[in-house]
Amino acid sequence: MADDRTIVAQKIASQDEEHAPYGGVVPEIAARAHAERLSPMIAAVLAEADVGLEELDAIAATAGPGLIGGVMVGLVSAKALAMASDVPLYAVNHLEGHALSPRLADPSLEFPYALLLVSGGHCQIIRVEGVGRYRRLATTIDDALGEAFDKTAKILGLGFPGGPAVERLAREGDATAVPLPRPLAGSSEPHFSFAGLKSAVLRAHESGRFEAADIAASFQQAAIDCVVDRLRRALDAMEPVETLVVAGGVAANASVRTALEALADDWGLRFSAPPPSLCTDNAAMIAWAGQERLHAGLAADPLDFAARPRWPL
Ligand code: KG4
Ligand code: ZN
Repeated sequence: MADDRTIVAQKIASQDEEHAPYGGVVPEIAARAHAERLSPMIAAVLAEADVGLEELDAIAATAGPGLIGGVMVGLVSAKALAMASDVPLYAVNHLEGHALSPRLADPSLEFPYALLLVSGGHCQIIRVEGVGRYRRLATTIDDALGEAFDKTAKILGLGFPGGPAVERLAREGDATAVPLPRPLAGSSEPHFSFAGLKSAVLRAHESGRFEAADIAASFQQAAIDCVVDRLRRALDAMEPVETLVVAGGVAANASVRTALEALADDWGLRFSAPPPSLCTDNAAMIAWAGQERLHAGLAADPLDFAARPRWPL
């Protein structure tokens, strides 16, 4: 990542094929795949960028939250590089990477903004007030939104990861065909819940009365209705902002983006979302979060910074 926000080089090593037979991420497979692939990948990225270690200003790496094996492999590699090139290390919270990613894509996006962070592990509404200043207003009391997409995909036999597959199938279905609940809609707290929706999807599928495409479309609509309802509640309770922002893997979903754009319009807010390639997990958003911290004058992290399986923003 260059100073002017150019992504000089980036590689993504997908492990989807290894995990697909199990319908979800298997921790041991993830840890081993990280250990096998990371070193050659770092060498390849540096070669592609045509950058020597001595030219770097800082190194950023994810330090959590997440499956600890992979996080440790990445963090240890980053520490070794930081030590070898004598530059500061930024141990980045993965959620901070998602939270700041919209500013990488949209230089005009100023703090504060209202953020819907929707990934495979998290579903939160955050008022992003500055680099390192995150006020969380809502979270999920059970499943994350991406998890609900993945479980729906599993029920419908669409494979892993499920989000993009559900989105594709939903395009061919009728979103009003299957009656599904909107958990917590109308409740006074802005929190999320998707477990009941997933159970209803399972019952609809097992009843044999509905086409898979109609279930996918109805699920996606129900999920979007929940998100919009919860965001309305949170925006109502939040100190004013000018922009509504969405980030995280589920933000790659076109119907989700369209619904949020309409919501923003309705509230007189600007809408900003990173391009889909910066929504799903990527290295550039972590580099960018490190760069934001560097430029904001925030202290770097010590080389004994420990990887964190759990780490609220
Ligand atoms: O942020 P992310 O790449 O990884 C985590 O930090 O979890 O998010 C992955 C999640 C998965 O649950 C995946 O199914 C979902 O994002 N996802 C989508 C789409 N693309 C990825 N969900 C709905 N529609 C999509 N197009
Ligand atoms: Zn993520």
